[in-house]
Amino acid sequence: MFASRIDWPLAPNRLSKQLEERRRRGLLVLDLTESNPTRCGFNYDVQEVLGALTDARSLTYDPDPRGPLASRLAVVDYYAERGIELTPEQLFLTTSTSEAYSFVFRLLADPGDNVLVPRPSYPLLDFLARLDSVELNSYSLLYDQGWQIDLGSLERALTPRTRAIVVIHPNNPTGSYVRPEERQALLEWCSKRQLALVADEVFFDYALGPDAAEGNRRAASHAGTCETLTFTLSGLSKISALPQMKLAWVVVSGPGEILRDVLTRLELIADTYLSLSLPLAHALPRLLDLRRSMQPQILKRVRSNLRRLDEQISPASPVTRLKAEGGWNAILRLPSIQSDEDWAIELLREDGVLVHPGHLYDFASEGYLVVSLLTKPETFEEGVAKVLARVSRSV
Ligand SMILES: Cc1ncc(COP(=O)(O)O)c(C=O)c1O
Repeated sequence: MFASRIDWPLAPNRLSKQLEERRRRGLLVLDLTESNPTRCGFNYDVQEVLGALTDARSLTYDPDPRGPLASRLAVVDYYAERGIELTPEQLFLTTSTSEAYSFVFRLLADPGDNVLVPRPSYPLLDFLARLDSVELNSYSLLYDQGWQIDLGSLERALTPRTRAIVVIHPNNPTGSYVRPEERQALLEWCSKRQLALVADEVFFDYALGPDAAEGNRRAASHAGTCETLTFTLSGLSKISALPQMKLAWVVVSGPGEILRDVLTRLELIADTYLSLSLPLAHALPRLLDLRRSMQPQILKRVRSNLRRLDEQISPASPVTRLKAEGGWNAILRLPSIQSDEDWAIELLREDGVLVHPGHLYDFASEGYLVVSLLTKPETFEEGVAKVLARVSRSV
């Protein structure tokens, strides 16, 4: 009766069941997975958030498949601050980055075509691709004192039906930015094999360390790429910490001769749905501007949680933290004496601490837990102490 594209397991997994049971019994949960910024105690300018929605232009229905020009110009300004010049014609507003992915997949791929995605990465990609009947082939990110793209695995993953390479800059959960030399290799492949590059940059503004390389990375959004057809995705859910506003965009860049054709086709897709809510679309300039008060708060939180985490891990601990350059997560490596899922279940059952097992992000092996650096500091510190104590006791 149902299409096979939604043929995925519907039953809750063991960890979700355990969590449900714990909550039902009213037991405390120290949640180290909270990634919803609206629940993390940040200080939002309530009047500005709500006031942005009361624009009188919203009283008239005057749809533009790309979104209102004034709102696209605000996004143009956002990139101009990062040294990238765009025209508003290169921009399409969408209701989420997920919708932006979907538009790009529909534009580029027929059923059975594939796109390459990093592994480990963000679990929703699987679902998005399947809903658009696109196959995912993964390429590996390897860790050796820092994450890097295994370019050999990327080359092996390419097939005649590959349509695009997805990079997540910085990636979730590894927190790794694409390095300049990796980017160069990807651009060459894309040009040679007529593939598009899709760059998900939702966490771009959240560099974790004020190191020298940071300046280079920050300048290197993919939105300014002109050597090959490139789609750069981002949105308010992370930039302004407003996931509930459902506003994102895709920037199209690339060689002039193909760009006009791509923009016309993408416009057809956007025009078919006209999914943007105009009150929100008109609110974009003000909501985007809220990043100026939200990003410093979030950066302060994630950097200080990371520092605290490092202070808590003693040199003798069997747990280590993997290097992260950006984003809202930290990855703990621990002895794989049991599966990641079993570690997560034990931590929840015995200590009331909720963490994400690495397999959720498709790590290549066991031995990884992911914690959210957005977590409130008291919960973070107490939860981390319990994780470290449990692992030390178990080995
Ligand atoms: C890497 C990455 N891309 C995209 C998204 C989704 O963004 P949106 O809320 O705009 O759909 C997420 C959500 O966590 C993410 O981690």
